[in-house]
Amino acid sequence: MWRDLTPIGRDAESKGYRRFAWTEADRDCRDWFRSQAETRGLTYELDRNGNQWAWLGDPTREDAVVTGSHLDSVPDGGPFDGPLGVVSSFAALDELRHRGAEFTRPLAIVNFGDEEGARFGLACVGSRLTAGQLTRDQAHRLRDADGVTLPRAMEQAGHDPEAIGPDPERLARIGAFVELHVEQGRALDLTGDRIGVASAIWPHGRWRFDFRGEANHAGTTRLVDRRDPMLPYAETVLAARREAQLAGAVATFGKIAVEPNGVNAIPSLVRGWLDSRAADQSALDTVVTAVEKAAREHAARHGVDLDVVRESFTPVVEFGHALRDELTGILGPDTPVLGTGAGHDAGILSASIPTAMLFVRNPTGVSHSPAEFAAEDDCLAGVTALADVLEGLACR
Ligand code: GLV
Ligand code: MN
Ligand code: MN
Ligand code: MN
Repeated sequence: MWRDLTPIGRDAESKGYRRFAWTEADRDCRDWFRSQAETRGLTYELDRNGNQWAWLGDPTREDAVVTGSHLDSVPDGGPFDGPLGVVSSFAALDELRHRGAEFTRPLAIVNFGDEEGARFGLACVGSRLTAGQLTRDQAHRLRDADGVTLPRAMEQAGHDPEAIGPDPERLARIGAFVELHVEQGRALDLTGDRIGVASAIWPHGRWRFDFRGEANHAGTTRLVDRRDPMLPYAETVLAARREAQLAGAVATFGKIAVEPNGVNAIPSLVRGWLDSRAADQSALDTVVTAVEKAAREHAARHGVDLDVVRESFTPVVEFGHALRDELTGILGPDTPVLGTGAGHDAGILSASIPTAMLFVRNPTGVSHSPAEFAAEDDCLAGVTALADVLEGLACR
C-alpha cells in the first residue's frame, strides 16, 4: 500500500512531495485512502470539513478509538510526515485482524485535511474546524498565493464549502485519538529507542511581516534615495535568529513574497512569514515582541512601512496523563516520553478529547525536506506498537 501512495505528488526534480490541500495530488491521496478503506470492508465517510474516515464497527456509537494522521505535505516535504501515521493505521488494523483481535469499541482511521497549511497559510484546518477552533467565516477568508479562496478551492474539488464548521457530535463519539508520526528530531536516535510517546507540543505561531517601500530602477536610483524593504527584512531575519538564541526558542523566516520580484527593480513589498516556537509561552512572547520591535526600528530607518499580522497561534499542548500512561503501560515503562516543536492534529484535538501520540525514530532528525527518513524496521516497530496500543484500548 505504501508503494501505491509514494508516487503521488512527488516532484521529479526535487524528489520532494507537493501535496497541497484540494489540489490534484490531494485528490489522488484521498482516492488512495478511500480504496484502502473499501478494500478492507471499512465504512468510508467524508465529513463536512473534508476529513476522511474509515470505520470498523458502528460509526454512530460512542467511545470510538481513532487513529490516523494526514496525507498532505509542505512544499517539497518528505515521504513520512503524515503518511506514516495513516499507512501504519491501516497496517496496524491488518495486524490486529491477523491476531484475531475482537473489538469491543468502534475503531476508525482518519486522514485529516490540510494539516500543513502549505496552501492557505493556516495549519490543521480540518481538525481546527472540527474542534471549533476555526470558524466557517474565518476559513472562508483564507486564500492561497494565487488569490484562490479556500471555499473556491473546495468547490473546485467537489466539496461543499458551506457545510464546513464545528462537528461536536463527531467529537463526542470519539473516546480516544492516537496519532503515530515520524519523529522530527533526534531524541529517539540519541536514546537508542525505536518508539516514543509524546508529552507536549510547544506553543507556536505564524506572523506575517509586510515591509512596504518604493519600487524603483536598480541601476539609476542612488542608494540614498531608496526606500528598499529588502533591507529591513534582511535585518529582521538576523534579529529573529539572535532573539531566538537568547530565549532558547526557534524562529524561522522560511517563506517570502517579493513584489514586483524583478532582478533589476528595487522591491515595493517584501512579505516574510515568521514561524516561531518555544518550550514555554513566555520565551515565545519575548522572541516575537523583540523581533517585531527590531523590525519596526529597521523599517523606520529605511523609510519603509511595516505591518505585522499574527496569522495563527497554537498554545502549548500537554497530552493528558491518563491516556499517555495507558500507552506506556502497554508499550512498557521504559518507553521514552518526549516533547516536540512540531504541530499536529492531535494537538488540536487534545483540547476536546483524550489524545496521545507515538513517535517513530528518525535517525537524522530531518523533516519538512525530501531528505526525511525512517528505517523500515523502525516503521514496522511503529506498526506493532500502534497495533498493541489499539488492541489495548479497543479490544478489552
Ligand atoms: C507542521 O508540521 C508544523 O509543525 O509546522
Ligand atoms: Mn509537518
Ligand atoms: Mn505531520
Ligand atoms: Mn505537523
